[in-house]
Amino acid sequence: MDAKLQASYDEFPYLSLAFPQSHPDRLATIGRLHGLSPAPVGECRVLEIGCAAGGNLIPMAGALPQSRFVGIDFSAVQVRQGAADVAALGLSNIELAQADLRDFGEDSGVFDYIIAHGVYSWVPADVQEKLLDVCSRQLAPGGIAYVSYNTLPGWNMRGIVRDAMRYHTRQFPDARTRVQQARATLDFMAQAMEGAQSPYALMLRSEAEQLRREDDYYVLHDHLEEFNEAVFFHQFAARAARHGVAFLAEADFRMMLLDGLPAQVAQMLDRMAPDTVRREQLIDFLRNRNFRQTLLVHDNVPVDRALLPARVSALWVASAARAAGGDSDPRSAAADEFRMPDGIGLRTPYPISKAAMAVLAKHWPAPIPFSDLSAMAAARIGLEGDVDDRATAILAADVLKAFCAGAAELHALGPTFATEAGARPQAFAVARLQAARGAHVTNMRHEMVSIDDANPGLLALLDGSRGRAALVAEAFPAHPAPDAEAALDEALARLARQALLVQ
Ligand SMILES: C[S@@+](CC[C@H](N)C(=O)[O-])C[C@H]1O[C@@H](n2cnc3c(N)ncnc32)[C@H](O)[C@@H]1O
Repeated sequence: MDAKLQASYDEFPYLSLAFPQSHPDRLATIGRLHGLSPAPVGECRVLEIGCAAGGNLIPMAGALPQSRFVGIDFSAVQVRQGAADVAALGLSNIELAQADLRDFGEDSGVFDYIIAHGVYSWVPADVQEKLLDVCSRQLAPGGIAYVSYNTLPGWNMRGIVRDAMRYHTRQFPDARTRVQQARATLDFMAQAMEGAQSPYALMLRSEAEQLRREDDYYVLHDHLEEFNEAVFFHQFAARAARHGVAFLAEADFRMMLLDGLPAQVAQMLDRMAPDTVRREQLIDFLRNRNFRQTLLVHDNVPVDRALLPARVSALWVASAARAAGGDSDPRSAAADEFRMPDGIGLRTPYPISKAAMAVLAKHWPAPIPFSDLSAMAAARIGLEGDVDDRATAILAADVLKAFCAGAAELHALGPTFATEAGARPQAFAVARLQAARGAHVTNMRHEMVSIDDANPGLLALLDGSRGRAALVAEAFPAHPAPDAEAALDEALARLARQALLVQ
């Protein structure tokens, strides 16, 4: 049965991508916000279970040379591809191994961070158990594990579409034909529901439309495979508890907040759900949640859920938010709004916070240590000497508010990328390798970004061996001199903003 699953991934490899929410920096940041002292991200040991071709782990290893990475996956084809990339990049801090998780032994040691993205729901029960076992036995005492999985009740709806596709495609043994026929099922469902307004029709049509936009590998592995178990959060938490690991938080921290729900929900939850697991489960029912990215810690680790602004002071802060209307006056007592490109924002009347948002916007995407941010913001509003405790406390509270609203990022790790191109600009080696294959690459913030259409070949030239004159000649041969230099400067500035240049 497993041989079939293994062959399916070998025949139809999963597109191996970077997941910022699984990065040790994210795990450490959320750990610190909950009063933990996780291992320094720049010097840690990381395991990824089901690493496919290393699309998540290799960029981490490339950006964090002092940390060590182990990835295992039982698809030989995917691991070979990943190992070839590791060799091409000359990375010595990462090892990808073809192995069945069932055989993964304690001789591999313990890890500060363990990642299993997109694995738990898609493997048989004994592998699920082993996964949680590894997240317990091989997690360092202060370590944090990340496990993503499909959840109920949201998957009840998705399951209807999966059931229909599996029912229709069960007669076709070949994977490609099954995907084609699954698509035909989706078309059939979308067309049959056209114009209908019943809740069932709306739900089915939306699910079918969404899935039609996905790639073939995703439709095959995430929806057609034999194993696809969605669980209630409380079931997952109980299974984890049997292995001695407990819920810390969600990697997508904002999913734990009650945004968009009526104010009285918070008080009702306090009465109905005295513990975190019950509270989270009730929120899943309210939101019809279908996926979780859960962080686990050893059950003897004290987790403090009071979100204390003071904890922000040991972290780094970054924000792309800009003053709404392009204007903010830190000296006025009126509230100003700072908005992200997607409209999410922070509204604050405090001069120190307004000044800090301006500092962050100027430095974006670079994160700034909170203490430096506080000093830079104070200088901007003319506060001399040490910033007083009250201003620091106000700023910490506003930064935490901005983080919860999605208008600021918090990081446990400082920037690994350069914010300006040097004399011999160098781009992230992982991105240079990926650029030869397609239009999307991984940046040093561990995000997938698009390569600039205007000059797709530039990234490959930025290996640190060329000065500006050589880059102008090779990348902009058709431009006259001053234009070419300006075009290079502009392209390099764009790459710096995309966090693609190394320090
Ligand atoms: C849905 S894919 C997810 C891949 C990757 N983590 C991601 O999210 O893009 C599941 C991966 O788990 C691997 N896998 C499944 N069962 C396994 C097992 N028993 N031992 C090791 N790897 C396994 C598959 O080969 C596949 O690469």
